[in-house]
Parts: sequence; C-alpha cells; structure tokens
Amino acid sequence: MTGLVGIQQDGEIAVIVVDNPPVNALKHAVRLGIRDAFASANDDKTVAAIVLTCASRTFIAGADITEFDKPPQSPSLIDLNAQIENIGKPVVAALFGAALGGGLEIALACHFRIAAPATRLGLPEIKLGLIPGAGGTQRLPRLVGMEKATAMILSGDPIPAKEALALGLIDEIFEGDPAAAGVAFARRVIAEKRPLRRVRDLDDKLKELRAHPDKFAEIAAAHVKRARGLDAPNAALEALRWTLDVPIDQALEGERKKFMELRAGEQSKAQRHIFFAEREAVKVPGVSKDVKLRDIKQVAVIGAGTMGGGISMNFANVGIPVTVVETAEDALQRGLSVIEKNYRISVTRGALRDEDVTKRMGLLKGTTDIAAVKDADLVIEAVFEEMPIKREVFGKLDKLTRADAVLATNTSYLDVNEIAASTARPESVLGMHFFSPANVMRLLEIVRGEKTAPDVLATAITVARRIGKVPVVVGVCHGFVGNRMLRARSIEAEKLLLEGALPHEVDGALTEFGFPMGPFAMGDLAGLDVGWRMRKAQGIRAEIADTLCEQSRYGQKTSKGFYLYEPGSRAGRPDPEVEQLIVAASKRLGITRRPIEKKEIIERLIFPMINEGARILEEGIALRSGDIDVIWVYGYGFPRWRGGPMFYADKIGLAYIRDRLAELAKKTGDNRHEPAALLTRLAAENSTFDAAQKKAA
Ligand SMILES: NC(=O)c1ccc[n+]([C@@H]2O[C@H](COP(=O)([O-])OP(=O)(O)OC[C@H]3O[C@@H](n4cnc5c(N)ncnc54)[C@H](O)[C@@H]3O)[C@@H](O)[C@H]2O)c1
Repeated sequence: MTGLVGIQQDGEIAVIVVDNPPVNALKHAVRLGIRDAFASANDDKTVAAIVLTCASRTFIAGADITEFDKPPQSPSLIDLNAQIENIGKPVVAALFGAALGGGLEIALACHFRIAAPATRLGLPEIKLGLIPGAGGTQRLPRLVGMEKATAMILSGDPIPAKEALALGLIDEIFEGDPAAAGVAFARRVIAEKRPLRRVRDLDDKLKELRAHPDKFAEIAAAHVKRARGLDAPNAALEALRWTLDVPIDQALEGERKKFMELRAGEQSKAQRHIFFAEREAVKVPGVSKDVKLRDIKQVAVIGAGTMGGGISMNFANVGIPVTVVETAEDALQRGLSVIEKNYRISVTRGALRDEDVTKRMGLLKGTTDIAAVKDADLVIEAVFEEMPIKREVFGKLDKLTRADAVLATNTSYLDVNEIAASTARPESVLGMHFFSPANVMRLLEIVRGEKTAPDVLATAITVARRIGKVPVVVGVCHGFVGNRMLRARSIEAEKLLLEGALPHEVDGALTEFGFPMGPFAMGDLAGLDVGWRMRKAQGIRAEIADTLCEQSRYGQKTSKGFYLYEPGSRAGRPDPEVEQLIVAASKRLGITRRPIEKKEIIERLIFPMINEGARILEEGIALRSGDIDVIWVYGYGFPRWRGGPMFYADKIGLAYIRDRLAELAKKTGDNRHEPAALLTRLAAENSTFDAAQKKAA
C-alpha cells in the first residue's frame, strides 16, 4: 500500500479507501495503490465483495492534470478499470461529493454504483480540450443511452445524483457514511445473488440505435455547432459512435489513442493553461491566506440600471439579501421589473421554478432612500459613469455605512483611487468591475486601489467566487485590463474599415478566429451611442461609428447600426448604405481603399492588443500574463482553445509579433504600435510571456 490507498475489512467485505486530499485525484501513486488493493482483495478468499470509496470530502474528482505534461506511467487508468471490471466478486463504488472524469470512469468499471444525495457525476474532460480517456465514451452510453451520454460528454457538465439514478447511472442513493452504505449494499448483492453487471456487456440502451445507426447523426447534430473547429468534441462524437459497431476492446484502444493525441495538441494545452491560470489568478501578493475576511451577509447595490440589476441578481441567486437603491421610484420599479422579467425568461427555459423566482425577488428590497445602506456589509455602486456623481455617492456611503463595510464601484474607466479619496476610509474601497450582462458573464475584475486593505481585497475575491464569478485582481488605470486592451482593438477595427475592409469582413475574420462575435456586431448589440457619448466627452472622434450615430443608427435598439436588423431578429445583415458611408469616409480622409486579407485583419486586431497587454504587465496593472488571458476568455469571448491573447502570442512567437508591430508603427506613424519594452525584451531573449511569468513566480 502507498499510504494513499488503504483497505479496511468489514467482515466478508473489503473496503478500499482512497485518501489523497483534497480531491483524491488519480495521480500515479494512487493508481498503484488502487491496483495493489484490488489485487489483494481479489486474492483474499475471505473477501466476498469489494467496496471502493474515499476519505475526506469527495469521491475521486478526476485525473491529476499536472501529470498531463509528463510521460504516462503505468498502471494507466485503463489498466485499473480492466482489472476491476474483471474481478469475479461484486465491486461497489460508493460515491459522494464529486465523481468526475477519471473518478466517474473508475466507478463505471465497478459492477454497482451508489451515491450520496448531493453527489455530482460527470465527465468534464471536454472543458480541457480532451475526451474521457479511460472508457468513458464507451461505458457511459451503454449505461445511460446515447442521447444523454453525448450531452454529458460534449457539455462536460455534471448531473446530480437524482438524475443519475433516473438514468440508471447509479443503482441507489444512500444516506449516511459512504463506506457503511457500500458494505450494506454489497451484502444485499450477495444475499440476493445478484449477477455482476459489467457495463461493457450491456446492450439494452443501445439496441435500438445499433439497428438504425444512421440515427446517430441526429443526436450528433444537436452538438455540431459547439464542435465547430474544435478537435475534442469531434473526437468525442467519433468515439461515441464506435459503441454502435466497433468491438469494445478495439474502441477502448481507439479512445485512448484519441485522448493522447488531444492531450499533446495545441487546443488542449491552451485550455489547460486557462484552467491553471484561473486558479492562479486568485493568489495575490500581499494578501496572506489567513487574512481575516469580512463577513458578507447583506449587500446594497446603488443604481438599478443595466448593471445594477444584473449585479443584484447574482446575490439573490445565492440567497444573499440585497437592498437596491435608486434616485426615483419609477427608475427603481423599472429596474426591479427588468430583474423579474429576466427570472421569468429562465422559468420559460426550464432553468428556474416559479417558487425560485418568488424566493429571489423576495430577497431584493428596493428603496429610494440611500440611508438604507446602513445594514449592508458590502455596497456596490453602479450609477452613471461620471466622476462627480460617483464622488457624491461615495461621500454619502462613507457617512451612512457601517465602519467595517466594503465599498465597491462598478466603474468601467474611472480612477478608483479618486473615488476612494471621496471617503475617509479609502482602505475599504475597491473596484468590482462586472461585465454585461452582469448576471451571466463570469468575469469580475477586482480593482485594487492604492490604499485597498488586504482583507477588503480578499473579501471581494471570496464573495466573487461565492456568486460564481471568476475574479481577477487588476490595478488602477483607464479601462483596467480588459477595456484598455479592447480599446486598442477598436481603434484598429475602425482603421481597417477606412483602409478597405467592410464590417462583415472584419467580424467574419474574428468569428473564424473563434470569437463568438466581431467588434461591429458587438457594438451594435451594446449600443453604439454609449461609445459615441464617451468620445464626445473626451473630444475624440471615430469617423465611421460617429457618422452612424449622427444618423441615429445606434445598433440593434434602432434596428440599424453597422448592420441592418429585421424586426425581432438579432442577426444583422450587411447594409449597402453603410458600405457607401464607409467608402465616402475613406474618400473624405484621402485614404485609397484596398482589399485586406483575413490574416492581416487578425494581426491588425490582435497584435496591438497583445502590445497593450505587455504594457499592462510592465506597469504591474496585471500581475501575470495568465491573468490577462483569463480576463479575455471570460469577459470578451477570446477562444478558450487558443488560451487567451498572451498565450496565443507565445505560440505565434514574440519576435514575429514585435516585427509586425514595428512595421505597422513605421507605416502608420502611430507610436502606439511601437513594440512594448517587455515584448521587445522577451522577443530578443527568444522567451515567452508564460516562461517569464513562471520564472517570476
Ligand atoms: N453597461 C455596461 O456594459 C457596463 C459594463 C461594466 C460596467 N459598467 C459601469 O456600470 C455603471 C452603471 O452602468 P449602467 O450601464 O448600468 O448604467 P445605467 O444608466 O443603465 O444605470 C445607472 C442607474 O443609476 C441610477 N442612478 C444614477 N445616480 C444615482 C444615485 N445617485 N443613486 C442611485 N442611483 C442612481 C440611474 O437612475 C440609473 O438607473 C457605470 O459606471 C458603467 O461604466 C457598465
């Protein structure tokens, strides 16, 4: 035994317990331990049945991802699964917590599975650009049928125990201690002389489809859009199809081969990078693990507009009461009714029940009296983006809130230090920059002010995770990390139009790159007037976007923007009038239009962003290149399988990017394109952002 896996004997039942905290990941030593434990229980004549379970708070929650970049070591999980499945005595897996990935695959190799009520079961490999590599694609459909198996493997989302029971994925739900429940279940199996159920031999759930294999295409069709351009979903569909007509041993070999290919591929490497970067992002220098958090039981949100409403929903969703403060009754009622409408949409989609809406709305208390903030542990301000108003609000909050309250602003661009300075307690102030729609988007930029106290920062990070967000700590500058880089992209997008491209060409290049939407479709969705007003205030002009706004083309809300929208449709189509307007603008500015290739469009849009990202790192506004990647993947739809802009830059090669930027700077005379010092240095060293980050850590 390795110490990570033990055997306890309960009469004639052997209980194998994996004890590798925190999540009992299947690292090499654990696999060795499991192999030996099963071998010994199998050889032991006094053992009539075997139970597999775990210590601590969960069943095996997956493989050890840190082993993915190392050469495989035997025994593999496939070997273990074969060993377990072929044992001639009943093997029962007693699941609790999470049974995910390799954890679920090993459970699938057992003859019976029982689970505690709160267990989540799933195969999340797809989220790392992989497929289940130890029989998951072959055993799951045999147990739950093709439709459900395909949905589980292609979404990667876990299902609750109750659903698993209904599907036949588990045999029973137990209450109480997993080992004891496993032993009791095993005794029943013996007493009732139940036959050993090897999942590999099951046929009933696939029989019909095996007779009509062409129907598989219909099941796959539901997932094809998600699979576009991605290696893993396509590989998963292929492997799933094998369950219909390929002998299982051959299919298992094929599955393993595909898994190994994906693991070595660029897409999975990028997705693993994001997985680790997300976990790394919450580690903040100067904030020790044992800093005492402020307790957040009651929240107040100032402003019930687009952002205030969405922000409030996040807290109500997890049972935290929210006081919503507005200036006038009608604005308040409007804000609350938008929230209710959003919840009702979730009910029609089947994501919420009526009683959930009642409960959540019950947690939201609206008022026009700002003095109601007195009970709040956390206040989030989401009023108009104007410094005098923000200062006034924070001045009031300073007087009205409890001394230990955390005061956050949702500003997109304004100086958090200046906002903090309008209070007598700047150490309690920080930015919590949500993204729109705030109840949906997972990213949360946590803006650390000059004086923000460590406990305030740590509290904000913790609360962000509690409401299901992905927090990334950033420093104070105009636009913080995400919007500052976005601005670099927007400027180039407009220039591309003036030089010869059309909106659908620019957007098309970016969607082909993997973004869900290009900059112009995004502008139409968000409303072009927002940026227009901001530019007017700053005395700057975006020739084309501003001309559109001057013609009251604000985007989807006016059915016209960069594109034309049919009533009720969100899909825009190119508008010849816009093309004329763009051509006229080029002429006005004396620019000779030319055809622009996709490759140039991509480089012109992405490389200046990378350059800005490098400056952001130099200035310490972001702590790590991985933090920037997380921001762009979660906040702006940068394709996860490309790993975010800085990881993508590393892959393209920093020297190439430096040269292209230098060329662009020379050609346009725009010194914003001069390669950043950090980019220049790393390129000269033939290094990468990732390597530099790892070296610094
Ligand atoms: N809309 C976005 O995409 C987005 C994204 C991230 C951050 N933000 C930021 O969030 C903030 C709010 O933006 P929004 O889009 O929700 O604006 P909005 O205009 O939709 O809502 C602002 C609300 O604040 C209310 N308000 C104004 N002054 C107030 C006061 N003194 N007390 C109470 N309520 C007051 C207004 O009545 C209005 O309902 C801004 O700072 C903005 O920059 C917006």
